[in-house]
Amino acid sequence: MRPVSAPFPAARFRRARADGARRALIRENHVTVEDLIWPVFVRDGVGVREEIASMPGVYRLSVDLIAEEAQAAAELGIPAICLFPYTDPALKTRDCAEAWNSENLSNRATRAIKAAAPGIAVMSDVALDPYNADGHDGFVVDGKILNDETVEALVKQALSQAEAGVDIIGPSDMMDGRIGALRSALESAGHKDVLLMSYSAKYASGFYGPFRDAVGASGALKGDKLSYQMDPANSDEALRLIERDLAEGADMVMIKPGMPYLDICRRVKDTFGAPTYAYQVSGEYAMLKGAMLNGWLDPDKVMMESLLSFKRAGCDGILTYFAPEAARRLQKG
Ligand code: PBG
Repeated sequence: MRPVSAPFPAARFRRARADGARRALIRENHVTVEDLIWPVFVRDGVGVREEIASMPGVYRLSVDLIAEEAQAAAELGIPAICLFPYTDPALKTRDCAEAWNSENLSNRATRAIKAAAPGIAVMSDVALDPYNADGHDGFVVDGKILNDETVEALVKQALSQAEAGVDIIGPSDMMDGRIGALRSALESAGHKDVLLMSYSAKYASGFYGPFRDAVGASGALKGDKLSYQMDPANSDEALRLIERDLAEGADMVMIKPGMPYLDICRRVKDTFGAPTYAYQVSGEYAMLKGAMLNGWLDPDKVMMESLLSFKRAGCDGILTYFAPEAARRLQKG
């Protein structure tokens, strides 16, 4: 595209900005409720709502309350909810067996949501970190993260989630070869319609801190995730990972974090044209919410502007902790 415009005064860009009707006509991008995927944290118990200190306004909810919230989200028109379990530390082991327990929190929450709000899509997380005594996304032996053994475990985890009824499986582990392995296992088990949204370009980011508090992984994590998550300095590598995951059978791809990586979103969308999502992660939420609560930023304006940036960068949707707030804001018009 090569935009052409006349010299001043033939071209006056302010003509098109002069009033609301004109601005509406030339508006290139929109955020709608259909762009939103809402990540939520599930915990044990009944009627429990526990605020996460580093994410004001975000709660760990027991399964019964998650089902209620999912119903409310569906009524707001939010198309998908994404589950992250806060696992009892006593259930965290080095073999991570709780990850494929059909009665684990994530699977119980999936069934409860499907019963309460069948219309909302349920997305689950595939990675071992909520269940791992070592806090890592993969098995750890002698301080090293094992790739192929982890992929076998991820397959068991994903099959148990598909069995529970999830619509979208989101592998966030960054092991090599997992998309192909998950796709063929899902096909063989008859789960032909389960979508795979790959966390393809997931960076080793400092912005995940509050999430690790939320799922109780901060204390467990030994070392860092630099040997499997991407170097924030890289951009071409993201394209190679996205291409690899699409070739292995990913239906949708994700870039994570979001706001500091909008350049990657744009490159990915332009290069592949695949359904592309960004995750506005916990640290981005904490940063914005903290400033909003201090009165330093206008909450509605900044929330919507931050979501619009993803649409402008070419994303088809956004995982965001602001989802219900944004949906209510959009309803007000
Ligand atoms: C772990 C996982 C993480 C997030 C989603 N899945 C954290 C990590 O990789 O350490 C981060 C989400 C957020 O920060 O909001 N598999």
